[in-house]
Amino acid sequence: MPPKILRLNGAALVGGDPAQAATAPKVTPLHRVAPEAKVKGLALKLRGIAKAYGERQVLKDIALDIAPGEFVAIVGRSGCGKSTLLRLLAQLEQAGAGTVTADGGDTLAQHREDIRIMFQDARLLPWKTVLDNIALGLDDRPRDASGVAPPRGFGRLGAALQRPGKDARDRAREALAQVGLADRAGDWPAVLSGGQRQRVALARALVHAPRLLLLDEPLGALDALTRIEMHRLIESLWQRHGFTALLVTHDVAEAVAVADRVLLIEDQQVALDQRIDLQRPRVHGSPAFARYEGEILGRVLQRPALHPPAAEPLPLSSLRFAI
Ligand SMILES: Nc1ncnc2c1ncn2[C@@H]1O[C@H](COP(=O)(O)OP(=O)(O)O)[C@@H](O)[C@H]1O
Ligand SMILES: [Mg+2]
Repeated sequence: MPPKILRLNGAALVGGDPAQAATAPKVTPLHRVAPEAKVKGLALKLRGIAKAYGERQVLKDIALDIAPGEFVAIVGRSGCGKSTLLRLLAQLEQAGAGTVTADGGDTLAQHREDIRIMFQDARLLPWKTVLDNIALGLDDRPRDASGVAPPRGFGRLGAALQRPGKDARDRAREALAQVGLADRAGDWPAVLSGGQRQRVALARALVHAPRLLLLDEPLGALDALTRIEMHRLIESLWQRHGFTALLVTHDVAEAVAVADRVLLIEDQQVALDQRIDLQRPRVHGSPAFARYEGEILGRVLQRPALHPPAAEPLPLSSLRFAI
């Protein structure tokens, strides 16, 4: 059976809201750094993706095309498989069936270094300063003409224990400036607020110039005002850098605020694929915004809640995202 896709494309939902354009406030950048070259966002093509845990089928026959540089939000009831889908794309899990192709023909594994993921908790190393948390894992050894760095002594452990060099620290400093925390480089993670820690996690992802950024409810634990600030920051960094973004959120307003498209996962499939045709920056509460939000929320609530998801074990392989 083909996937059941409901598209909300009523005329009232299409087109920017003229009232919004007149009242939209200008976003004040949180940081001022020279604009850099954009990366090319990763294009994704999923076909027949399925995932089960034991007897429980979580995803089934998912077909999805994501354009390079697109911003896609994923919503759905708790336990419907949002994180599972992201973990498959981050290659922290293996699909039971189906294929994911990147950039028209590559495997995801070929793009391992192009993909970063952020979680609800920042997963910073408490014994490292903010700057060293960002610079960790950056390879700043001099390279020969072919771009190959010479082998490092003491293997991976040695590399992890080494203090990052100047080049890595410069890049980390630049990423920190981009998230508006240039003055917190020498602080310990423990003295930062939750929102600041998430900004550091964002900088740690950005420093690798990702082509695909996966965001698994990264703002879930933040207060409402900090969330809106973070939306704006993520949106401006996405516009500046050009990566493809997939944001899982339980907050439909958040999805409408930042995404080009909102997907609803229900019954193991993509049950709704809604394009959000509003100018940016978007104004919460404008009539067109409220219409999208109301329609999507209404659709999500048609179904009763699922069983709460089990605690998610952290696979060892995900540690590469924690450094
Ligand atoms: N490692 C796992 N082992 C067994 N079941 C899991 C595992 N991870 C997730 N699940 C189950 O898969 C379903 C989807 O989980 P998840 O993708 O985390 O949902 P959510 O949409 O809330 O992010 C849930 O029923 C959850 O209990
Ligand atoms: Mg989840």
